[in-house]
Amino acid sequence: MKIGILNGPNLNLLGQREPEIYGAEGFEAYLKSLKDRFPQYEFRYFQSNDEGALVEELQQMAKDCKGIVFNPAAFTHTSLALADAAKGVDCPIIEVHISNVYQREGFRHKSYISPAAKGVITGLGLKGYELAIQALVD
Ligand code: DQA
Repeated sequence: MKIGILNGPNLNLLGQREPEIYGAEGFEAYLKSLKDRFPQYEFRYFQSNDEGALVEELQQMAKDCKGIVFNPAAFTHTSLALADAAKGVDCPIIEVHISNVYQREGFRHKSYISPAAKGVITGLGLKGYELAIQALVD
């Protein structure tokens, strides 16, 4: 069983970017620990700062994977193209945010992706990704 993990813009900077909000761990290191934790599953991981590349990958991932953990980052709050892609694919998506977007600026309270997601996890740090995977495989 293959699980997709799709990360949006600036998440390549995890570990250095606003560590008081996003923590000190980089995603590559966390991904390694995820693979150790779920050795029975295969992972397809993709990160991009480019909206079109994320649309393309979401479409391909949905064909290849049983479920997708998606952190659209800032595109959460702006992207109709990713919202349409998320609605258009036939694959469960769990939306994850590392920070609690509801404790932050008002513009982060709106998600274009949530209506297409099976569930949303926000504010639990990187642990949100493993909780989302657990939910998908359950
Ligand atoms: C984020 C929250 C977004 O508002 C922000 O733009 C991000 C990361 C999170 O994981 O907490 O880049 O999706």
